[in-house]
Amino acid sequence: MSETDLYIGLMSGTSMDALDAILVGFSRKATFSFNVICHHTQSIDPDLKRALIALNAPGVDDLSRYACLDRHFGELSATAVNQLCAKAGVLSTEIKAIGSHGQTVRHAPNHRPAYTLQLGDPNTIAELTGITTVADFRRRDIAAGGQGAPLVPAFHAEAFRSPDVNRLIVNIGGISNISVLPADLQQPVTGWDIGPGNVLMDAWCMKHLGHEFDNNGEWASTDEVSPALLDTLLNDAFFNTPAPKSTGRDYFNEHWLPEKLSLIQQPHLTPASVQRTLLQLTAQTIASDCIQAIQQLDSHSLVPEIFVCGGGAKNQLLMQTLASLLPQFNVNTTDSFGLSPQLVEATAFAWLAYRTMMGLTGNLPEVTGAHSARILGGIYPA
Ligand SMILES: Nc1ncnc2c1ncn2[C@@H]1O[C@H](COP(=O)(O)OP(=O)(O)OP(=O)(O)O)[C@@H](O)[C@H]1O
Ligand SMILES: [Mg+2]
Repeated sequence: MSETDLYIGLMSGTSMDALDAILVGFSRKATFSFNVICHHTQSIDPDLKRALIALNAPGVDDLSRYACLDRHFGELSATAVNQLCAKAGVLSTEIKAIGSHGQTVRHAPNHRPAYTLQLGDPNTIAELTGITTVADFRRRDIAAGGQGAPLVPAFHAEAFRSPDVNRLIVNIGGISNISVLPADLQQPVTGWDIGPGNVLMDAWCMKHLGHEFDNNGEWASTDEVSPALLDTLLNDAFFNTPAPKSTGRDYFNEHWLPEKLSLIQQPHLTPASVQRTLLQLTAQTIASDCIQAIQQLDSHSLVPEIFVCGGGAKNQLLMQTLASLLPQFNVNTTDSFGLSPQLVEATAFAWLAYRTMMGLTGNLPEVTGAHSARILGGIYPA
């Protein structure tokens, strides 16, 4: 009999670059361990991506558009799962459950009432895959008074925490977020959203070059940072808001940058200089939150290790810039643990499904601000 339980994680984040599907085995032994068995990247066709981005802002007939996209994204999620199973050579009956994050179309944790909304109908996923589906992880945390995000620090702690060294995990997806993993196991794990990771760079690159993203920051590297624009961007209130905090396209959207550009008196900024400045913003906000996190650690004399995950880890200029802002630390990627940066978040949602199926809590109140830990998500049986 196999000693692991198989779970599938599905993640499509703020970038909407793709839907990542991962097959993970969780050990049944008392000591936690997992292994990644197979992964599949499901493309999201440009029309669907456009429709999903459009739904992030109020528009005409939102309810019908929501209902249709909920089914469409559920179907796409099921396709991703079925392709993953075929690639791995496993049967649906061998999988305990799918953990589906869904596509966020609204995230307003500071609205009253607070709300967050991920679409990708789990009924459709369960029906088309024959696999029990766990979904809607964030809303229970919101109902318990939390931000509903970030949820990944709990997984980062389970997978990457060490009693010997303080560690920071920085995920650079559409939005960037940090997990602070103290070596002292008496200290709580903390974490929060830092700000825009790739989302603003991607949007600017699409607007001016028609490309989904700036490969390795090559376009950004052709020009200089604008100090005036950078100062204006860094002055945004979100960066100085204390944790718990989380954000998304509701805030860092197509209107955010033009509003900031209108505040500066510099008519001669080239699009490439704006791109370089956006990259600097991502790197600088991450570096300053890393330093802040380290100062909060009781044993900050232990030089922490910093590991980056998410698609931003592949952007060489971004990684070089980040390393140059944190010269006293080693900045690596989660490849150091044998887990590719692009797979970490999907693995986290396989793990969250595993937690829910085992009747275990998934959120960290110290991270999200929830009243206490909760079992997250709804279970849609096979
Ligand atoms: N070679 C590369 N050069 C530059 N940027 C890259 C490269 N590869 C990936 N990226 C960036 O990574 C992004 C995708 O990252 P990821 O999948 O982690 O984000 P996400 O789906 O929004 O996740 P999250 O939920 O964490 O926000 C792409 O949109 C792109 O901006
Ligand atoms: Mg992605």
